[in-house]
Amino acid sequence: MSKTLLVTGGAGFIGVNFCNYWLKKYPDDQVIALDILSYAGNRHSLEQAEKNDRFSFVKGDILDQSLVETLLREQKVDDIVHFAAESHVDRSITGPDQFLETNIIGTHSLLKAARQVWLTEQADSTHRFHHVSTDEVYGTLTADDPAFSETTAYQPNSPYSASKAASDHMVRAYHHTYGLDVTTSNCSNNYGPFHFPEKLIPLCIINILSGKPLPIYGDGQQIRDWLYVEDHCRGIDLVLTNGRAGETYNIGGNNEKANIDLVKALCDLVDARFAEQTDLKQRFPDAPASKGQASDSLITYVADRPGHDRRYAVDASKASNELGYEPQESFENALGKTLDWYLDNENWWRTVLDGSYRDWIDEQYGS
Ligand code: NAD
Ligand code: TYD
Repeated sequence: MSKTLLVTGGAGFIGVNFCNYWLKKYPDDQVIALDILSYAGNRHSLEQAEKNDRFSFVKGDILDQSLVETLLREQKVDDIVHFAAESHVDRSITGPDQFLETNIIGTHSLLKAARQVWLTEQADSTHRFHHVSTDEVYGTLTADDPAFSETTAYQPNSPYSASKAASDHMVRAYHHTYGLDVTTSNCSNNYGPFHFPEKLIPLCIINILSGKPLPIYGDGQQIRDWLYVEDHCRGIDLVLTNGRAGETYNIGGNNEKANIDLVKALCDLVDARFAEQTDLKQRFPDAPASKGQASDSLITYVADRPGHDRRYAVDASKASNELGYEPQESFENALGKTLDWYLDNENWWRTVLDGSYRDWIDEQYGS
């Protein structure tokens, strides 16, 4: 049976990948992306989706409850997949207010709209609200701790993760109190195409190509569990389609890497590409590889992030056992695909760099 999905934050990194994934996998479904186009939202990223007549874009705010209610009613939305958020930890440290507004109040506004239209007006509790959350709500691990499971106590440490934790609790409460059909997925660090270049991997790719320093916070030994974005989309699909109402599912890559090792692997990959593809030297003359130097010469240790979580690791065995979730991409292959995407889509990231992103980089790292 065909469906209509409302995808909030559909012009952001994961939202764009999810719209593309869904339109390809479900040829009868309609996808509506709702996005306010904040600094992180980019309409150009939706170019491929916009060619599809089963896709539509609405510029709007998840805090606009009446707009969301109208969409749910008039577009006969079956399910909501909720990505819209402020997502960058460093920004949450310098300016937490927007994180509370978007992530907590915004999520609650969506829940109120879903309750009003689906439960009160339509008396139909079969519609699902899927909430996309993060492993960061669980706090930080030592090297010997077991990975986060769905029963790990919430101990968020940054304003970002605290705001996501609060939103997770509101989603849960709307299920238990009002009977809204909800699911939540808590995922580890994603990477892949359309990733905004304030985050570690795209920042480092672009800085290498531009011959700029690669800022490593603290000692670079912080560990993240990296997952290719398409595997995340597949995981969300499984939870949305087959997950049990009211449940949360962890989604991870089983792929823990220390930041410094990740950045060095990326440097090696770029050097190998420059050795294979001679045109790269003309296109990126400032890259170390164009001057006979190694990319890792750009690695620069900088002041640590305040409250920096040491290690994240995700135990995804619940999603694996119940839903058959397994990441399909190997890290080496997917990191290579990601690098190639940035090499092939120079125009995308140059356009992004022209915008307010530049102000942020200056504020964060100095001009
Ligand atoms: P992103 O910052 O790239 O995109 C967020 C999108 O939300 C942007 O397009 C932005 O314009 C939109 N948005 C912000 N405020 C809005 C509002 N008030 N109304 C409508 N749209 C609004 O983020 P992302 O990396 O794509 O993350 C998407 C979701 O996945 C977030 O909820 C995040 O917490 C979660 N998540 C991300 C990761 C990751 O590694 N990126 C990992 C786990 C979970
Ligand atoms: P990031 O991509 O911001 O994701 P998150 O903070 O949500 O995990 O950062 C990934 C890791 O890389 C994190 O440990 C912080 C570190 N990092 C740096 O060392 N330098 C940087 O310039 C950035 C942006 C991140």
